[in-house]
Amino acid sequence: METAIKNYEDVDSWKTIIFLYTSALKEVGTKLEILNDEFQHVHKYNPIEHIKTRVKTPESIVKKLRKSNHEISIENMVKYVNDIAGVRLICSFTSDIYRLAEMIGNQSDLKVLSIKDYIKNPKESGYKSYHMLVSVPIFLSDSVVDTKVEIQIRTIAMDFWASLEHKIYYKFEGKAPEYISRELRECAEMVSSLDDKMLSLNEAILQCLEEQEEAKKAAKKQLNNRVEM
Ligand code: GTP
Ligand code: MG
Repeated sequence: METAIKNYEDVDSWKTIIFLYTSALKEVGTKLEILNDEFQHVHKYNPIEHIKTRVKTPESIVKKLRKSNHEISIENMVKYVNDIAGVRLICSFTSDIYRLAEMIGNQSDLKVLSIKDYIKNPKESGYKSYHMLVSVPIFLSDSVVDTKVEIQIRTIAMDFWASLEHKIYYKFEGKAPEYISRELRECAEMVSSLDDKMLSLNEAILQCLEEQEEAKKAAKKQLNNRVEM
């Protein structure tokens, strides 16, 4: 790197920018893996099914700037395109989403810049997901640069819907006939009730296992008492 990077305004090369976003993804990805491993270690349970990361393509960045009527410049890209570095966390249950969001919010070196809860307030399309825009400090040899990362947290079912809806939406270039949009919204509702069912089923399973464990302990205690007599 030729110049010292003090803040975004000083960054003038595309390569440097992409390097920063790639580094930010590594930082956040590692953090999330550690949180997941710690959770597994303590609670014997993985809140994250899988993690996907990506850096937005130059074409998509330019497209987004054009769409929002901003001049194509590196400064504007850093300022206005919040999802150049993106992480998607796929969980089993809706409850995992809020648990993870809280764990991410508690990381002292991450700054939460904004939150969009499309689970409590789904989009018109039916889209559900929990979005966090965070910034992570990237430590370079002579400076520190806070770099933005968009984290999307959703269940497997929400991800299934969003992936297929995205493909269909693309096929129609955003102008899907009304009946298709309506059916997609209906599918989103089905996906939500599936999530609700799976969550309550999981709670019932945990409760059942706990009761079995208690019963086993009680039986063992009774047996020990008898042996002592
Ligand atoms: P974008 O300009 O699309 O990034 O929207 P935004 O800046 O208002 O942010 P928002 O949090 O609403 O959405 C960001 C991202 O969420 C998108 O890039 C998509 O990945 C995803 N997303 C948002 N709405 C939808 C939707 O209706 N369908 C699908 N499949 N994905 C969506
Ligand atoms: Mg996006």
